[in-house]
Amino acid sequence: MGQYLFSAVLATAVAERRFPAGFKFGVASSSYQIEGGWNASDKGESIWDRFVHTTPEAIVDGSNGDVACDSYHRWREDVQLLENLNVDFYRFSISWPRVLPTGFPNRLSEHGARYYGDLIDALLERGIEPVVTMYHWELPQTLQDLGGWANPLIADWFADYARVLFDLYGDRVQTWLTINEPLICDFGYDGIFAPGLQSAGRGSYLCSKYMLLAHARAYRLYEREYKPKYGGTVSLVNQVYWLEPQTEQDAELTELVRDISIGRYAHAVFSAEGGWPPALERYIAQKSAEEGEPRSRLPAFTQEEIELIRGSSDMFAINHYATAAVSAAAPDATYGVFAVEGVAELGAAVAPRPEWPPTASDWFTLYPEGFRGALLYLKQQYGDVEFFVTENGYAGSDDPLDDEPRVQYHRDYLAQVLLAMEEDGVRVAGYSAWSLMDSYEWMTGYQASMGLHHVDFSSPDRTRTPRRSAHYYAQVARTHDIDVDYSFHEGDNKL
Ligand code: NOJ
Repeated sequence: MGQYLFSAVLATAVAERRFPAGFKFGVASSSYQIEGGWNASDKGESIWDRFVHTTPEAIVDGSNGDVACDSYHRWREDVQLLENLNVDFYRFSISWPRVLPTGFPNRLSEHGARYYGDLIDALLERGIEPVVTMYHWELPQTLQDLGGWANPLIADWFADYARVLFDLYGDRVQTWLTINEPLICDFGYDGIFAPGLQSAGRGSYLCSKYMLLAHARAYRLYEREYKPKYGGTVSLVNQVYWLEPQTEQDAELTELVRDISIGRYAHAVFSAEGGWPPALERYIAQKSAEEGEPRSRLPAFTQEEIELIRGSSDMFAINHYATAAVSAAAPDATYGVFAVEGVAELGAAVAPRPEWPPTASDWFTLYPEGFRGALLYLKQQYGDVEFFVTENGYAGSDDPLDDEPRVQYHRDYLAQVLLAMEEDGVRVAGYSAWSLMDSYEWMTGYQASMGLHHVDFSSPDRTRTPRRSAHYYAQVARTHDIDVDYSFHEGDNKL
């Protein structure tokens, strides 16, 4: 496992700096990854339930989220952990089929609605703000059967679901996140994630377009009917890998890879002109023509759609984990996990540099400076938007309670956020550590632990135990100081 030292230069640069008083610290999780209770009461089936039950071989350890951390029954314990962490907010997600078993608002599950309502109330009682993700990849299977994200009607269905959530919880939830990482379209249509379809570069692009429209419809609905009453915010969550050219010759290709990976979603929402990134749109149109397609595989937007999506986010919610270097792919290139980011389409190879220490997940190596690079690039591309870090965290394997590498990870990545704020003038309002506790890590099953808390998955109690990183993070949340010397503290156990 990659251990690396906080460099003396970085330590000097940030030693005297603190996050401002109004900066918010929180932790994040998602419903499928922690809840379990997959068929509790009248919950409907999701595409993840179907995927893990029918193709367990797609998951490294053949496991599933049927029970996971059992938060459906143990959520009060989670709230206690949150209180111990001194966090300002908890980012969690709502399972669409738990609230709407048919996927449609014709039937509201009383159990599902009460579950999230009770959680929200318990958080508020302890002064913890609920930050709610509406879609963290659990599409109702009923909607998948009708074409899922490739059916244009999904924009109506998502807006209907959004209305149900705004009606149920809008009086208590101020921060809504519509869709977590629309880049999931590539995974879902490359057979890797649910729904496990094979339609890269076609289904994945329909999904990209209709996810953007679904998000924008929910945003406009809130803006029109709920914002005047409640004054909350609605945003899209973008996954941002930072991408650097391998050599100077790769600079142009790197721009195109940034367009397909970041700009495919961010340009439509945050740029002044809206729509797809122009260079990417031209590239795929030309390639489609050469392939004999009657029209571009990247579906066009109408002007009305462009206007609907443009500006439809109150902040730039960013999930960031890793950086990769871009180069032209060799003709016989076999693509790793990055292929699903659409880079195969561009003839690009995307890989970490050998000097970056690895983690337990093959898609991510350690390069904290990439976080600052990404934030600065986004500010230059899209102007002085407000950022909110909705995920950042470390993947270990079978991590001990003394998880020093995770402490280092948060300290080093937070240091880069601080430098971006103070040196580059990037506005960042908050930071979420991923994750509150070990949970179901999608195709990696339970083999990557990403929690500030260890979870004993062999125990029916799913016992949660704070790691050293939980102690560290509780201190950061309380003091707003990343404490460059923290790694030298011994045996602190205040939780
Ligand atoms: C982003 C996803 O939102 C989350 O579900 C996942 O666990 C983390 N990345 C880590 O892979």
